[in-house]
Amino acid sequence: MSWLDIGALNDIPQRGARLVKTVHGCVAVFRTGDDQVFAIDDRCPHKGGPLSEGIVHGHSVTCPLHNWVFSLETGMAQGADEGAVATYPARVEGGRILLDAKRLIRGAAA
Ligand code: FES
Repeated sequence: MSWLDIGALNDIPQRGARLVKTVHGCVAVFRTGDDQVFAIDDRCPHKGGPLSEGIVHGHSVTCPLHNWVFSLETGMAQGADEGAVATYPARVEGGRILLDAKRLIRGAAA
């Protein structure tokens, strides 16, 4: 894997998000209340809402537009809603957030 350093964990508040613009599209990187990081496509599959502006609770995010809830772990819509967003491997090392750059490229090419 080829890991891309996108910034310090402490740059993102707990239950906050940062938008990472890649040449392949926008990826929302979330920090949960228990200091884990997750990366998913920013665009809600319902009507394109910006998930990076959603509300994080547990390991899920609620879309700011129509309140669909997505698992940050699987990208799957929760409850009665159907749909999913792409997820990307993300990890924290030495206080830095790393994203799998190869996966970003492959995801866009698919
Ligand atoms: S655009 Fe996200 S729930 Fe409608």
